[in-house]
Amino acid sequence: MTDQPGRPPEERLSAPRPSSAPVPGARFSAPPSTHRNDLTPERAAKIVRQSASARWVGFLAVTVVALFVIGYYFYELGLPGGMTKPRMQAAAEEQQVIDVERGYNIYQANCAQCHGIQGEGGKGPVLNRQDKLFAHLNPDYIRNMLQVGGRYACGTATSIMPIWSNTGTPPGPLNYKQVNDLIAFLRASKAETFTVRDASKFEPVIPTPGATAQTFTGWVDPAYQPAAGATPYPACWQAEFTSGGSTATPAPSAGASGAPASQAPSGAMVNETALNIAFGTGELKAPADTAFTVNFDNQDAGIPHNIAIKDASGATIFTGDLITGPKQIAYSVKALAAGEYTFICSVHPNMTGTLKVGN
Ligand code: HEC
Repeated sequence: MTDQPGRPPEERLSAPRPSSAPVPGARFSAPPSTHRNDLTPERAAKIVRQSASARWVGFLAVTVVALFVIGYYFYELGLPGGMTKPRMQAAAEEQQVIDVERGYNIYQANCAQCHGIQGEGGKGPVLNRQDKLFAHLNPDYIRNMLQVGGRYACGTATSIMPIWSNTGTPPGPLNYKQVNDLIAFLRASKAETFTVRDASKFEPVIPTPGATAQTFTGWVDPAYQPAAGATPYPACWQAEFTSGGSTATPAPSAGASGAPASQAPSGAMVNETALNIAFGTGELKAPADTAFTVNFDNQDAGIPHNIAIKDASGATIFTGDLITGPKQIAYSVKALAAGEYTFICSVHPNMTGTLKVGN
């Protein structure tokens, strides 16, 4: 409309201009307060109120931070008087419990068949005795046993205990974590109760619905102290059962211990065998007041056995030398008074029998 082609440019736009006459009416002007430089009482009061709230906010902020720091301090280092444990210690203990519970499963799956469910011994030596656990079965020793296998204990090349660690030669089935868990279990305290957990899901094992979870305790008695002047447990556990080795029980009175087993057999003969960690017969008969010979045939390959005789009071009156099967030995036993005696294998105290001397 305004720009129609075909016309001279001066005719194209016809924008009317507003008149330049001043517009009548009141001019807009700011209120007088705007132009003042000094504070009005209201304004001053407002500033005071605002700064008071700002201080209040600041105070609250400092309080919150201070409370957090104090709270965190006790969370990290524990409440005074042992009310709570330091955080890192609590975490380490929780981890320790997990290790022990995993170690329990590894032990039951791999070791219990030879060392017993409770470590009471069997094909392998006892593991749960306090005098052994005190210093002999220390973490390094156990680690070496698992790394090297049974020969680490006494140098028996034919030991039936295999190599367990996967860094052994040849590699065994357990990795370093499983070895650590096993050690945690073997060294766990008797005073603590642990939960039996499912090996794969690691959930507590509940025998029947509604029953409480199964538990176990460690073996190590934290309060155990060896008797003053006691000989430390020998480096090779077999030495415990051979003459000259240290014994857990006091040595029998002089002259009562076993005669050398190499003596020629003489007089009455008694035969006994050992197979599968058990004596062949549980009852032996010998004449009274005459020396006799016990022909002992250990048929358990790789497992040491002997025969030790105890009198009615439980004192050991004869200890035969250990032999690792398959092997035979003839023990010469000095004359015994008529009566009933008990004979056991020193290594496997659950192998017992009765020796009837006399009629
Ligand atoms: C096949 C049977 C067998 C199995 C399985 C076995 N051991 Fe042994 N263990 C033995 C025998 C036997 C010895 C004694 C070593 C020797 O021959 O002198 C022994 C010795 C030991 C010793 C040293 C004991 C001492 O008094 O010095 C430790 C520790 C040990 N075993 C731990 C374990 C652990 C842990 C496991 C499970 C991973 C295990 N064993 C599995 C048979 C076994």
